[in-house]
Amino acid sequence: MKTQTKRRIVSLTLLASFVMLFASAVIVHATHGTTASHTWLHLHGLFGVIFTLASIYHIAYNWRTLKSHLFGNSK
Ligand code: HEM
Ligand code: HEM
Repeated sequence: MKTQTKRRIVSLTLLASFVMLFASAVIVHATHGTTASHTWLHLHGLFGVIFTLASIYHIAYNWRTLKSHLFGNSK
């Protein structure tokens, strides 16, 4: 698979997992004290893991660019 394709998949996974992470957190809050809250908390944890993994790959795939933004000359 081309690096550009992987980079795109990782970035979109990151975006999707962030949306689901945020939505599930809001639902956990809204269903607080009910049995549904427990299920959503597990889903929230699952999206948290996906988000964390995607974050690591996202930074790795964009490392060169990130490094030049942080320390490099302003190209
Ligand atoms: C919810 C979190 C984030 C989302 C949804 C997101 C999404 C994206 C997308 C869609 C792109 C363009 C595609 C690509 O080049 O991969 C991108 C680029 C990039 N992201 Fe993120 N990103 C997130 C967080 C971060 C974080 C925390 C960092 C740095 C620590 C970061 C660093 C970068 C860099 C360096 C680029 C390349 C920019 C360029 O080419 O000038 N991103 N991001
Ligand atoms: C958009 C960002 C996030 C928001 C708004 C958010 C919000 C919340 C809230 C409100 C709770 C409390 C639920 C409750 O006990 O009633 C919670 C719990 C939790 N969050 Fe998040 N969270 C976010 C990101 C993450 C990430 C990135 C991870 C994992 C890496 C994560 C993992 C967890 C876990 C494991 C719990 C359960 C803690 C426990 O056992 O009580 N969250 N989150």
